[in-house]
Amino acid sequence: MKNTQIYIEQNRDKFLQELLDILRIPSISADPAYSKDVQVCAEKLANQMQSIGLENISISPTAGHPIVYGEKIIDRNLPTVLVYGHYDVQPADPIELWSSPPFEPQIKTTSLHPQGAIFARGACDDKGQMFMHVKAFEAMLSANELPCNVKFMIEGEEEVGSPNLAIYVKENKEKLDADIILVSDTGMLANDVPSITTGLRGLSYVEVEVIGPNRDLHSGLYGGCVANPINILTDMIASLHDEDGRITIPGFYDSVEELSAEERNEMGKAPFSHTNYCQALEIEDTFGETGYSTMERGSIRPTLDVNGIWGGYIGEGAKTVIPSKANAKISMRLVPHQTSEEITELFVRHFESIAPKGVRVKVTPHHGDEPVVTPTDSIAYRAASLSYEKTFGKKPIPVRSGGSIPIIAMFEKELGLKTMMMGFGLDSDAIHSPNEHFGLFNFYRGIETIPYFFDNYTKLMADESN
Ligand code: BES
Ligand code: MN
Ligand code: MN
Repeated sequence: MKNTQIYIEQNRDKFLQELLDILRIPSISADPAYSKDVQVCAEKLANQMQSIGLENISISPTAGHPIVYGEKIIDRNLPTVLVYGHYDVQPADPIELWSSPPFEPQIKTTSLHPQGAIFARGACDDKGQMFMHVKAFEAMLSANELPCNVKFMIEGEEEVGSPNLAIYVKENKEKLDADIILVSDTGMLANDVPSITTGLRGLSYVEVEVIGPNRDLHSGLYGGCVANPINILTDMIASLHDEDGRITIPGFYDSVEELSAEERNEMGKAPFSHTNYCQALEIEDTFGETGYSTMERGSIRPTLDVNGIWGGYIGEGAKTVIPSKANAKISMRLVPHQTSEEITELFVRHFESIAPKGVRVKVTPHHGDEPVVTPTDSIAYRAASLSYEKTFGKKPIPVRSGGSIPIIAMFEKELGLKTMMMGFGLDSDAIHSPNEHFGLFNFYRGIETIPYFFDNYTKLMADESN
């Protein structure tokens, strides 16, 4: 991989400028006003792929946003790595909280990124990380060191729950045939503490509506006489946790996997500073389920959180009114062996059952996705571990993450393939928030590490079959 690394070294600035061009396109999948931009981004990516030697490039339309595919098959007897990523991004609002415009990328330094970081929506999640693979491929091919076959499948709907990807995967099983899926859409502990994500939480997302009187009412004439949907909704939500921070939905924990003391002890070895954590968020203390550390609360434990709540009068001044309805969006993060179907059902049943007389309750499930855990004794994990050791000079720590990537469980189900997650972002990179950024160190370290993975993986696979 020597010439590959030389190529990377010689093309650092070109790689960065190309990423910045992609970051300038506001490919926001959730907002129909940007669907043209999402399409433009797909085309730009496809052109990029074409220009660096990928073949059989396609931009497949879906009921939503297109999927970009490209491949390089050098020898059918060699292993095939399928790279998955997404070129869509989250909406940028609240826009006024950005220190520079979200789609006009700028390089700025931060305390955790003294060498500079790219500030833009999608810089880390996932354009910057997806693009590391495109550039790593370019480097390997240009240096004549591509060790195995590569396929790219980059979608445009991850941030809205990948509603059309399963259809594409089912229709293209042969085309997507591979030995391993490789994804950089997660993070690592710190720039000097490399880690590999070995698990993701699942997700049940529901929207609730509490409906009271048939119209907004004068709060003097009717106040005290009818159920106020906002009072009721907030009461109901408050009752979903007990004083230990545990979720009160009957059956919610029934299938939760309890880790052994040994496993928890192993997890506890990952460095964590309570002080730094609180300082970075400007909070006095952390908060959560009794009996678990912050790391555990954020990865191996399930959660229930209100993501948004609205109702009644929120304009200027005062309007004395009892609203006719109140709404909230609620997400539940799931851990192995909970399923989104089971948990959503338990939620609906419970939420309806706790509604007092005088209101009606409507629960609308949104998307669901399943938790995943990946093995640490696989060829892919060993290959990845060796690669990090090479570039970071340290063995990476396996860490389970709290986030979700909906399609990973689906890949296993539909394609029978395991996924290797090699993420290079930091939790502090503000993904989904104002001022999202991605360290230049992280971007380049990713591009440098990925080729070693390809090389180690190909070699270990060959050893295995001998
Ligand atoms: N890349 C993230 C998920 C992620 C980030 C996992 C960091 C682990 C570490 C992904 O784009 C994402 O935001 N997923 C959503 C779910 C989706 C259905 C909107 C999430 O986790 O909220
Ligand atoms: Mn992502
Ligand atoms: Mn995301």
